[in-house]
Amino acid sequence: MDLSTTYLGLALKNPIVASASPMSKSLNGIRALEDHGAGAVVMYSLFEEQINHESHALDHYLTYGTESYGEALNYFPDLGHYNVGPYDYLNLIWQAKRAVDIPIIGSLNGVSTGGWIEYAKKIEDAGADALELNIYYIPTDPAMTGAAVEEMYLNVLRDVKRSVRIPVAVKLSPYFSSTANMCYRLAASGANGLVLFNRFYQPDFDLENLEVVPHLVLSDPNELRLPLRWVSILYGRVHADFALTSGVHNHVDVIKAIMGGANVVMLASELLHNGLNRVDEILRSMQQWMEENEYESATQMRGSMSQQHVAEPAAFERANYMKVLGSWRPDPSVMR
Ligand SMILES: Cc1cc2nc3c(=O)[nH]c(=O)nc-3n(C[C@H](O)[C@H](O)[C@H](O)COP(=O)(O)O)c2cc1C
Repeated sequence: MDLSTTYLGLALKNPIVASASPMSKSLNGIRALEDHGAGAVVMYSLFEEQINHESHALDHYLTYGTESYGEALNYFPDLGHYNVGPYDYLNLIWQAKRAVDIPIIGSLNGVSTGGWIEYAKKIEDAGADALELNIYYIPTDPAMTGAAVEEMYLNVLRDVKRSVRIPVAVKLSPYFSSTANMCYRLAASGANGLVLFNRFYQPDFDLENLEVVPHLVLSDPNELRLPLRWVSILYGRVHADFALTSGVHNHVDVIKAIMGGANVVMLASELLHNGLNRVDEILRSMQQWMEENEYESATQMRGSMSQQHVAEPAAFERANYMKVLGSWRPDPSVMR
């Protein structure tokens, strides 16, 4: 069975990519991902706020003669323990490139244009094979139009593309008035790949303390449906590679994603919850499935269930919505 695939012009031995997450926070983690068979690793993100925070702190230190740079850092809000600073981030990429043979994809997370974008070039210089640009934006201002939000995405991408030569993928939200058009315009503005989709972590209310609290819940398998639908709709229509992320938990999910049109799948929750050896298990089960169903390669499967290739293309559209609603058979015992 030939599981090899290409993504962003890179040759991958298989389509399972470790998604941006704490798994890539250490060299040991990155090595372990390679040992367990991952086709590539996306680094956890370096955030715009983090980069700006460091440069503001440096400014403060130089301007006000604070005792130490470390003390200057304390003048700014705590960013938590998830991410190390930009220097350590670049250093880890540099080391990872020397430690493993699989592609390393850097990840920059931000929303505005500005000085932080120069880190795209630094990530390239550190040796990353490609860059994932995660644009995680919640437009809460009622005066901001959808067109302005879209323009913001395109401007960040254009700035990043101007500063690097490595391929760039955009990880985006599913919440646009026209997701298809947004994907089309990102590809037309230079995105080599689209990572569908960012998962939005909704805050919760703590009624004891009357606070709004962050609440991270790992994904469940039903979440696959949303990116699966969009990959299937966009495959062959938008000229970019596709990575599917959110809700991939087993080999069947991987096969569905590839048949929908994905070049790769990205996994975080499954590996964080059940361990990195899930990569080996999923790859083995995938090979077995392909053998039993007489597929020789991942390339042969790619896009075979996309909207352009299925017998019933309307299944991805409004007709399906009506059909789904009509398919529910109420349990008489709950209707009393
Ligand atoms: C603990 C944790 C940390 C994450 N950190 C990042 C990150 O730094 N950058 C990013 O783009 N996505 C990040 N993600 C999102 C994942 O890369 C992935 O897109 C998402 O979890 C959906 O995939 P899954 O269903 O396999 O978990 C993180 C997810 C988790 C659970």
